[in-house]
Amino acid sequence: MTNEQLIAYARKAMENAYVPYSKFHVGAALLTKSGQVYTGCNIEIASFGATNCAERTAVWKAVSEAGRLEIAKIAITSDEPDYIYPCGICRQVLAEFADDEMEIIATKKNGEYRTVRFGDILPNAFRSF
Ligand code: THU
Repeated sequence: MTNEQLIAYARKAMENAYVPYSKFHVGAALLTKSGQVYTGCNIEIASFGATNCAERTAVWKAVSEAGRLEIAKIAITSDEPDYIYPCGICRQVLAEFADDEMEIIATKKNGEYRTVRFGDILPNAFRSF
């Protein structure tokens, strides 16, 4: 699975973003270490705190479908011109199911992307022992 292919999955998932309040469409596609892809979009709720980011939607789907989950990389897309990275809550959720070497594929609307190591955007992550 190339980064470009994973980004294409995230862009497809973004089409289902339910964003009546922010109008900010986000898509995510994660690749597990066993080679499976799970996707998600953001889902907004009128009581805003109940909103779910695209990354977490993908993680919830993956855990509920696959049980144990080890994420190798995750692509995140939006309809904004600048790079998008996971929010703080999603970083903590990702830490539960990935090690510091997970690749974050941050994209711009124009198709450019860059990869960052997860441990570099959430150093010293809290994980259970
Ligand atoms: N959002 C995501 O889906 N992922 C992120 O990494 C950042 C924020 C969503 C949540 C909300 O629906 C909208 O973007 C604006 O915050």
